[in-house]
Amino acid sequence: MKSWIFSFLIITIFWSCKDNQSPQISNIPHQGVIAEKAMVVSAREEASEIGLAILKQGGNAFDAMMATEMALAVCYPFAGNLGGGGFLVYRLVDGSKGSLDYREKAPLAATKDMYLDQQGNVIPGKSTIGGLAVGVPGTIAGIFEAQEKYGLLDVATVLEPVIQLAEKGFQISETQEREFSALDSLFTVVNGKTILFNKSAKAGEILQNKVLANTLRLLVAGGSNAFYEGVIADSLVAFFQRNGSIITHEDLKQYQPVWREPITFQYKEYSISSMAPPASGGICLAQMMSMIKPFKIKDYGHNSLKTIQVLVEAERRSYADRNYYLGDPDFVDIPTQHLLSDLYLMQRMENFSFERATPSTEIQQGNIAIYEIDETTHYSIVDSFGNAIAVTTTLNGAYGSKLFADELGFFLNNEMDDFSSKPGEPNMFGLVGAEANSIAPAKRMLSSMTPTIVEKDGELFMTLGTPGGSTIITSVLQTVLNVIEFDMGMQQAVNAPRFHHQWLPDEIRMEPQTFSPELLGKLEKLGYIFSDKPTPILGKVDGILVLDDGRLEGGADRRGDDTAVGF
Ligand code: DON
Repeated sequence: MKSWIFSFLIITIFWSCKDNQSPQISNIPHQGVIAEKAMVVSAREEASEIGLAILKQGGNAFDAMMATEMALAVCYPFAGNLGGGGFLVYRLVDGSKGSLDYREKAPLAATKDMYLDQQGNVIPGKSTIGGLAVGVPGTIAGIFEAQEKYGLLDVATVLEPVIQLAEKGFQISETQEREFSALDSLFTVVNGKTILFNKSAKAGEILQNKVLANTLRLLVAGGSNAFYEGVIADSLVAFFQRNGSIITHEDLKQYQPVWREPITFQYKEYSISSMAPPASGGICLAQMMSMIKPFKIKDYGHNSLKTIQVLVEAERRSYADRNYYLGDPDFVDIPTQHLLSDLYLMQRMENFSFERATPSTEIQQGNIAIYEIDETTHYSIVDSFGNAIAVTTTLNGAYGSKLFADELGFFLNNEMDDFSSKPGEPNMFGLVGAEANSIAPAKRMLSSMTPTIVEKDGELFMTLGTPGGSTIITSVLQTVLNVIEFDMGMQQAVNAPRFHHQWLPDEIRMEPQTFSPELLGKLEKLGYIFSDKPTPILGKVDGILVLDDGRLEGGADRRGDDTAVGF
C-alpha cells in the first residue's frame, strides 16, 4: 500500500476513535435519564428511540435488540452494522443467563501468514483496509437467532421503523460530518469511487440510505437465509470478488452464531456475567476484579494514587495472560479454570508493591502447566418484562475496512486485524498476540468486547458495555467499580475519568485533562510511564442501573452522541 495512504489511515483511526473525546465533564449532569419500566441506551438517539418504540409495541429486549442494532447500522455506520459481528449477554426475568457469539470468522481461504511479506514482516494496512481485511460477517445471523429464540414480535414489525429511518433518512451530526470529511479520500481510494458517506455530507443535512432500506426489506422477506445463501449473498460475494476479498458463498453458507456459557464470577455480594472467548472481556474482567478484591479501594478513594496503582497492576497482569492464552475456544484449549482460580490470581499479584511500578518486562503470562482439555457501538436494554441485554457489536475500526457495498448499503468489517498476524507484532490497538490467536480458516479472532450484566442478591442490578478496542475491558471494569465500590449512580459512573493499561506497551493512557498534574507526578515517581501519543477513546460506556426503588437509571456516554430513553 502507498505509504501516504497508510499514514493517513493511522491518523484517521486515531482521529475517528478520539471523535468526541474530552467532553466538559463538569457540564454533564450527574444523574442520567430515569424510567419506571424499560430503557434503551445506545450510541444514537434515533436508534434508542426505535428500540423503545418496539418495547412500547409489546416487544421484548430481543425484539428491541434487532431493531436497535439495525437502526445503528442506518444512522451510526461508524460501528452499527450488517457487515460486522458482535456479542450478546442476556439475563431473562426468571434469572437465567446466557450469551450469543456472532463474531466474524476468518474466511476458509485464510492462511496464517496472509498479512506478511516474503521476509515475514507485517504489511501495513493489509489487515485493516480493503477486501482482505474483511472477516465473514455474523451480525445478521446473530440478531435473527436471538430474536427468533426469544423475541415476541414478527420480524416485519420489528424492522419496519428501521426501514422507515433508512428511507426517510437521519440527521448527520457534527461528529459524523468531521468523520466523513476526514475519511473522504480513503473512502474513495478503497472503493474506487465516491460513496454515500464522502465529504459532501454536512451536519444537519438528512442522509437517506434507500439501498439499505431495500436490503432490510429482503431480510424481512427471506430472513437471515437471504443474507447467507440467498439474493443478498449473491450480491455480496460478487462485491467481494470485485474488491479483493477471499470470502466465498461457502463461507457465508457455513457461518453460524454460537450460544455460549457466559463467564460468571462473584465480586463481594455481586454476581457478574460477561462474554466468554472468543471475547476476552469476561475472563479478563473476572481476573482483574479477583486481583483487586483483597485491596480496600473504597478506602483508598476513587481515582486516588493507590486505587490507580492496584487497577493498573491488575490490568497489566491480566492483559499478559490475555495475549498469550486466549483465542477462539473452538480452535484452542483455554485454561479457563486455572486463569480464574483465586490461588493463581493471588500469586499473580504477589510481586505487586505500592512502592514501585512493576515494569511489564518483569511480567509474562502466568505459568500454567496443565491445560484443561475440552474446555474451553455497545447498547443496553431492559424491557418492561424484566429481561435485560448487553450487546456489543462492531466493524472493528471506524467504518470497518472502509469498503462499502453500495448495492446493499452497508460497510464491511476489518475484523481480521484482531487476529495476531505475527506473534509479538502489535495490531491496530497495540495488542500483541500469540499462537492462540493466530489466523486459521473459519477461526474467530479474539475480541476485547465485554458486554456485562451484574446481579445483586440474585436480582438484576446493572447492564453495561462499551466500544473502545483494547480499552473496552478496563472501561467496563472502572464503570462497574464506580458503582459498586464508589457508590456512584449510572451516569456519574459513566462520566468519571478513566485510564487504561494493557501490559504492552508499558504505559498508562489517562483520559486527557482529567487527572491532576500532582497525581500524575506521583505516579511518574513510582515508575509509571504515560503515553504521549494521541489517546484513542477510553470507551463510550452505555449502561442501565436498577435503583433501590426499582426504577432504572440510564448512563449514556457523553464522549459520543449516546442517548438513554425510557418509559
Ligand atoms: O473485538 C474487538 O476487540 C475490537 N474489534 C473492538 C473494536 C472497537 O471497539 C472499536 N472502537 N473503537
